Amino acid sequence: MCGIIGYTGSLVAKDVLISGLKRMEYRGYDSAGVAVQDGEGLHLAHRVGKVANLEEAVSGGFSQGTCGIGHTRWATHGRPSEQNAHPHTACADDFAVVHNGIIENFAALKEELIQAGHVFSSQTDTEVVAHLVEDAYQGDLLEAVRAAASRLVGAYGLAVVCAAEPGVIVCARKDSPVVVGVGKTGALVASDLVALIDETRDVVVLADDTFARLSYQDGRGSIRFCDAQGREIHPEPTHVDWDISAAKLGGYPDFMLKEIHEQPRTIRDTMAGRMVNGHLQFDELSLSVEELSAIDRVYIIACGTSYHAGLVAKNLIEAWSRIPCEVEVASEFRYRNPIVTPSTLVVAVSQSGETADTLAAIRDARIKGAKVFGVTNVVGSPVAQESDGVIYIKANKEISVAATKSFLGQVVALTLMAMLLAQVRGGLTINQIRMLFRELADTAGQVEQILADTSAIDAAAQACKDAASALFIGRGIGSTICYEGALKLKEISYLHAEAYAAGEMKHGPIALLHDGFPVIAVATKSPTYDKVISNIQESKARGALVVAIATEGDTEIANHADHVIYIPKVRDCFSAITASVPLQLFARSIAIARGCDVDHPRNLAKSVTVE
Ligand code: AGP
Repeated sequence: MCGIIGYTGSLVAKDVLISGLKRMEYRGYDSAGVAVQDGEGLHLAHRVGKVANLEEAVSGGFSQGTCGIGHTRWATHGRPSEQNAHPHTACADDFAVVHNGIIENFAALKEELIQAGHVFSSQTDTEVVAHLVEDAYQGDLLEAVRAAASRLVGAYGLAVVCAAEPGVIVCARKDSPVVVGVGKTGALVASDLVALIDETRDVVVLADDTFARLSYQDGRGSIRFCDAQGREIHPEPTHVDWDISAAKLGGYPDFMLKEIHEQPRTIRDTMAGRMVNGHLQFDELSLSVEELSAIDRVYIIACGTSYHAGLVAKNLIEAWSRIPCEVEVASEFRYRNPIVTPSTLVVAVSQSGETADTLAAIRDARIKGAKVFGVTNVVGSPVAQESDGVIYIKANKEISVAATKSFLGQVVALTLMAMLLAQVRGGLTINQIRMLFRELADTAGQVEQILADTSAIDAAAQACKDAASALFIGRGIGSTICYEGALKLKEISYLHAEAYAAGEMKHGPIALLHDGFPVIAVATKSPTYDKVISNIQESKARGALVVAIATEGDTEIANHADHVIYIPKVRDCFSAITASVPLQLFARSIAIARGCDVDHPRNLAKSVTVE
């Protein structure tokens, strides 16, 4: 995923662009660039690495123009380099384009353009857009972009400027988010609202196959919209009131720690308004009691951490409502021709709401006749727009690439959904649901207790930080948390880690163990606690260094583990919420000790909008 931005107004464009790109750096940070327009044409600057490198490059005598576009990149086609950094131009530097998405037919278009005499300077798919616009331009940039877009197959959020039309930016959207708005000093476009919110909270999320022309005249910004046929349209702006502090560090050393500490609030906010007069309330799900009662199979589809939230939910859906529930990574689900009928419920879980594999799986499921619920953190995101119903987790903006608070928000939302299914099908009495709802709400305070003292977590991290690999083991809900703990550790510290159901140790993984090999065991009080203790003893017998996540008051565990991280006692079905927090902090502590950038792990971006 990448971040695009554009500004036309009264301020020096490069300052607005750089500020907005910094807010969107979580979307990708391989390289960054700007194209600024002033009376003499387009001025471009590109730098590899973070936006700060670009900021330094334009800090001197760079153009003082008041219209421009910018981009921060997560490389898809062409390695990270200045040559492949956006904005891309055509044969002449009269047209500049920034793009988020992937042009699937770029190779054929590039060949056609080369045959027509165009000369390319990058390996990217995006550059073909610049040349198509150049070819189509006959004095109207909006028309030229519309013509160019009609040739494209794939996903794109585009912003385009040209030297011949000072102060004008044209945008286009298909499957990659584009938000536009008129602010205090001009008109703006960006991939994410977080880059516009200082200027305006009244925005339009461009619909697929629509275009916007931004301009600035007589001291005010304006935006004109049209559809793919060039017909003028008038989309209503949406007023957004979320808290911009989410996009600022607020005194924390990094967004990951800030967002870990925001988890109690995420739990409370996601649950707010969900129990009305003693009954669960999900107005936005738009399925009748009859439709919910008719569901005979649930698929939870997602990627990464969101997939792990689904693993937790499977246990609850099957335990409480006895509906068969399968959890699948979206990239597998869509290609295996799954059994889907009108009685199938597909739950698509995605923090960003932009993940390409999850979106594609939603479309396939709907074609096959399934009902689709989206669980997402981004209002109006493609997942939200393409689902029959949506449950918004209220985690506020999550900046750090490592998902933490959004994971807890997803687990809470999916838990509530499992309760709703059980309520409708009579798997739980209303009193049981009320009791579970109260205990679920109590987890916010239990997470606060965990956050209040992380000394045991840090000590365990110090003991493991130099390992080459680690094994996470658990059983039941505990095993689902192992998958999430292993992902957190590897994605931010680059220490290889894998998770296994503890009962599987004897079937192979135990061969990995040697003196000092870290085994992280989720050993909270549960029906399988004694079995996990046995697995810990088997590990210790082979010299492993055992870190145990255990329930407060459990003195037995200290006889078996080298490090014990105690968490408050909760009902086993809610232990995913409390046990995941120490594993987030454990991963972060090791990453810091290994000198990693926890908010910008190498090779990653916050959301993967390409397949
Ligand atoms: C989790 O820490 C990672 N950032 C990644 O696995 C992420 O969960 C995955 O890419 C899915 O993203 P989504 O929830 O936005 O769809």
